[in-house]
Amino acid sequence: MNVALLPWDRMWGDLAPVGRDARSGGYRRSAWTSEDATLREWFAGEAAARGLDLVTDRAGNQWAWWGDPDADGPGLVLGSHLDSVPDGGAFDGPLGVVSAFAALDAVRDRGFTPSRPIAVAHFCDEEGARFGIACAGSRILTGALDAVRARGLTDADGITMAEAMTRAGHDPAHLGTDAETLRRVGTFVELHVEQGRGLADLDRAVAVGSAIRPHGRWRVDLPGEANHAGTTLLADRDDPMLAFASLVLAAREAAEKHDAVATCGKVRVEPNGVNAIPSLVTGWVDARGDDEARVRAVIADLTSLVEDRRGTLTEESWTGITPFPTDLAGRLSALLDDAPVLATGAGHDAGILSAAGVPTAMLFVRNPTGVSHSPAEFAERDDCLAGVAALATVAEELAR
Ligand code: GLV
Ligand code: MN
Ligand code: MN
Repeated sequence: MNVALLPWDRMWGDLAPVGRDARSGGYRRSAWTSEDATLREWFAGEAAARGLDLVTDRAGNQWAWWGDPDADGPGLVLGSHLDSVPDGGAFDGPLGVVSAFAALDAVRDRGFTPSRPIAVAHFCDEEGARFGIACAGSRILTGALDAVRARGLTDADGITMAEAMTRAGHDPAHLGTDAETLRRVGTFVELHVEQGRGLADLDRAVAVGSAIRPHGRWRVDLPGEANHAGTTLLADRDDPMLAFASLVLAAREAAEKHDAVATCGKVRVEPNGVNAIPSLVTGWVDARGDDEARVRAVIADLTSLVEDRRGTLTEESWTGITPFPTDLAGRLSALLDDAPVLATGAGHDAGILSAAGVPTAMLFVRNPTGVSHSPAEFAERDDCLAGVAALATVAEELAR
């Protein structure tokens, strides 16, 4: 285990300043930005330092192979993502990539000879913070996100994903389902910081994932009439901000009613002037629940409210319930001292790969507060190292 300490600390330290907001301590690491380029270079450097073969797939995801997956595959892939939500935490994503490299180091240091190639993967644009679609890299890879739609997605400044990729030196013409890359992946294991208090409550450091709960994102456009904030009588106003306020409250009410969760975490106002009644408010609703019916019931309640206000509600992404193979989860739990088996309400590339038919598992590392998507996201170093040890054990089991 000690052999894994040094590389883990060095890698964690190398990533710490990338995209860090000095005021909040949170991270801004969006897809196809300069921060993203630094993270991609870091990944390539880690691959080169270990003599791994670096491959970038058609969607821009990076793969660092120990062994030849075409000759001797399909292989075992360990990995996660490096991007963040706006002002996100250090652990969501990077913990999985750093732990994958550290686990690979550990098994190689032990002299382990795998029966099949092993790779570390870096999936791009997992959070969808810039272009709106979460897990864009794995969705494009598997065909769950159409390449034409992906290229045309725009960020807040109207820059398309295709333009952003081109500026970052990647040809968007290659975007598309990548069967050749997928064929190389025999099994995928994603380690992730837990985004709840399940492990803290159980007093355990590491869990195995059982399933990802259904979740989706909807865009709501609420039109109004721009007018002067001082001279327009209240009775004469057509103010879409009032409709948006109702939507936020209705989302909470519907979530409580249907035993789900719903969040309005992003809003865009046109023209966004302090002394002008808005002409348009665009808001986003993220809704999740234990089953699809609950989530759909929340959205049905909101649809009628939005239509009453002459607005539109558009589904931007949907991910159905994604159970991970029970036999694999059970096998890994037994291997890891009967590790707890937990479901999660967070989305992951592991879910996209699993839905595409790749045998997939997840490991979670204890998060003492459960806080995530926030600068306060945290995991104790000892728990992170326990995660590396667990991942190394899993790698040896699945590649023996
Ligand atoms: C990603 O972390 C998500 O669950 O939205
Ligand atoms: Mn996340
Ligand atoms: Mn994540």
